[in-house]
Amino acid sequence: MILWLLNKLFGTGDVYEDVSEELPYEIGDRVGGGTFGSVFVATRDEKKVAAKVLLKRVIIDEDRNIVLPRRAASLREEVAISKELGGKHHCVSCEGYHEAPDRLYVYYELITGGTLADRLETAHFHARRWAAQLLDAVAWCHAKGISHRDIKPENILMTRVEKGGNRGWRKLNKDDEPECDVRLCDWGSARRRGASVNEAEITGFWSAPEVLSGRCSDDMSADNWSAGLVVLAMAAGRPSEADVRELHRGGLAGAEHFRARVLKVQPLTHDARAREVVAELLDPDPTARLAAGAALDFEFVRGFVA
Ligand SMILES: Nc1ncnc2c1ncn2[C@@H]1O[C@H](COP(=O)(O)OP(=O)(O)OP(=O)(O)O)[C@@H](O)[C@H]1O
Ligand SMILES: [Mg+2]
Repeated sequence: MILWLLNKLFGTGDVYEDVSEELPYEIGDRVGGGTFGSVFVATRDEKKVAAKVLLKRVIIDEDRNIVLPRRAASLREEVAISKELGGKHHCVSCEGYHEAPDRLYVYYELITGGTLADRLETAHFHARRWAAQLLDAVAWCHAKGISHRDIKPENILMTRVEKGGNRGWRKLNKDDEPECDVRLCDWGSARRRGASVNEAEITGFWSAPEVLSGRCSDDMSADNWSAGLVVLAMAAGRPSEADVRELHRGGLAGAEHFRARVLKVQPLTHDARAREVVAELLDPDPTARLAAGAALDFEFVRGFVA
């Protein structure tokens, strides 16, 4: 209460309603983490959830070994957007949050099958179903006026664990592997349509060419590119680092060249339905690029959203 009052009087406006040291869940093993936080299994009365723990004032960028200030508004947005989108259309559901003086705990449904990043080797067996679910999730976010801005395999969770636990999946083949669903997660970079740009643009392997060249004016179109690249990775494997490096260097001409090259990768050469939807999602021109919602009508994914 005292902290809350002090914060209210002298703070920077980062006040939530439920500030206390006492956590509603017991924090257990770490299951993941990135630039903005760590994720732990958390338990209360036998119920397990995933707790994403975010430092309130700073971001620790381990890759660059620096500490950056964090804006309270971006934390609030992550919680609000998670609650608004979660639990529907293959987006991970948010079970609430809790605020401690220096940390924010955001609770999500615990998804136990790891991430798509660990499943790309065998993803082609399930590509139509998983691609349909991912596109459904992206279309849902966009319909609500929210862009995700960090669509990549690490932010796509898999709902089922194989017999023998998380590590057993690599040995499985198509017939052994029970069907599982995907859940889009991580709203840490998401942005509402029209929101002022106050955080740096994230760039990386899965970014659209216009994001890489610093000329992105439509976050949703950029999401559609990233989703297209993930669909490509599901259907035909992860594009090579060399191809993506070329994309990073080459501007729009490089993007066109990149698209032409990846469409020649097997099995896309044999599967016209996969090629068709990937080609449209990887349109170098953001204004002509296929939207996730419209992609759901393409034969490759039509009827596969479960
Ligand atoms: N609901 C969940 N159930 C199980 N594991 C999860 C869940 N949410 C996240 N994880 C694991 O934690 C990792 C990090 O979570 P998340 O992507 O939300 O945070 P982050 O990457 O730190 O955020 P940011 O990308 O904003 O830096 C995920 O890649 C995944 O391995
Ligand atoms: Mg993440």
